[in-house]
Amino acid sequence: MSKNQRRRPPNPRPATGNEVCVLQVEDLSRGGNGVAKDSSGRVIFIPFTAPGDLVKARITRQKSHYAQAELVQVLEPSGQRQVPLCPVFGRCGGCDWQHVAYPLQWQTKCDGVKAALSRQDLPMPQSWQEYPANRIWSYRNRIQLRGKKSVLGFYSRASHSIVPVERCAIAHEELNEYIATVREQGKLRTKPYKVELAVDADGSVRAVWDGATAAGGFEQINSEQNQRLRHWVMENISNHRTVLDLYGGSANLSAQLAPDSQVIHCVDLSIPLSEKNQWPSNISFHRSDVFAWVLEQARQVPGNSADVPPSSAIIDPPRGGMPEQLPQFIEALRRLNVTELIAVGCKTDTWARDLAGFIHQGWRLQKVAVFDFFPQTAHVESAALLTCN
Ligand SMILES: C[S@@+](CC[C@H](N)C(=O)[O-])C[C@H]1O[C@@H](n2cnc3c(N)ncnc32)[C@H](O)[C@@H]1O
Repeated sequence: MSKNQRRRPPNPRPATGNEVCVLQVEDLSRGGNGVAKDSSGRVIFIPFTAPGDLVKARITRQKSHYAQAELVQVLEPSGQRQVPLCPVFGRCGGCDWQHVAYPLQWQTKCDGVKAALSRQDLPMPQSWQEYPANRIWSYRNRIQLRGKKSVLGFYSRASHSIVPVERCAIAHEELNEYIATVREQGKLRTKPYKVELAVDADGSVRAVWDGATAAGGFEQINSEQNQRLRHWVMENISNHRTVLDLYGGSANLSAQLAPDSQVIHCVDLSIPLSEKNQWPSNISFHRSDVFAWVLEQARQVPGNSADVPPSSAIIDPPRGGMPEQLPQFIEALRRLNVTELIAVGCKTDTWARDLAGFIHQGWRLQKVAVFDFFPQTAHVESAALLTCN
């Protein structure tokens, strides 16, 4: 439906709290919600809607410039809709967009990354690359289930009640086949439990009961897209350098660089569980806070840092992004003569904020690549190449 053809919603008044109103959904936000406007022009976010939907929605939260609503009924569905695969879609806390056709999911993610750069007043880089997913279902190699006696499922949206599931449409088939085993074993447990299932490359499934998240070591949840990210990193890091893989986990992004690098320092609070002799001999693992490690290395640089050979760094922090003292960290990288940096992030706004922090300190944004690690959700993985002299 074109913008001109859109039907005006029949509610002539601004929507108020708890009110059920009829709204025309006009857009899809990068946060995942459909976007409508009431008659006063105020934006209303409605989960599980798509642009072009005419819906009945209940206002649940009011702010001065926007309101949040919940979907009551789709009166006229948009042509951008698809039929969700999961019977529990909308109740389960996992997916936001099973009802949205994949091309629109991907477009919204790419536009969202551009919008986040623009909000930070960052120019578009010369090179912009997009990596949508080839596999939009059955891609997750790790899932976290919750159970209580014979009830097994996922946490619901915004609560800790369990939505029972038989299978998960975005999980690998091997994980789905294992769910019945977990349910049987869970029945014997006296307390509520959490179980994390992960499938290995050979198809075998590991189950960790009541452990910390990613207790087996952090691993990207989409193996296929992870390969493409690793390849992108390899293409963009210069050879024959020292590489700092910061927030490096098990050196997922740097191990492949070992044959062409001087030495790789992988720094992470957790250390890989795999055997030491599995790793190339020029990778050193440092179990440390990244900030503390980088500052300490910079302190040990003797005399003039221009004498230090140029090196490269990868940063891939958790969702919160880099800590507040980013300028101190950037200054330490300068002393270590880091001249190229790959910044990876799974939360677009914090990633863009951190890029801006580097650019304000004289770094240049050369490339951005966007990877869909999380089809059917609003999440997206971004990577940037920055350089400085
Ligand atoms: C998004 S993961 C990235 C891991 C890795 N680059 C990969 O691709 O698998 C973030 C990592 O940061 C680590 N981490 C979180 N806070 C940290 C900190 N303050 N210092 C060092 N590592 C940290 C976590 O253990 C986790 O492995």
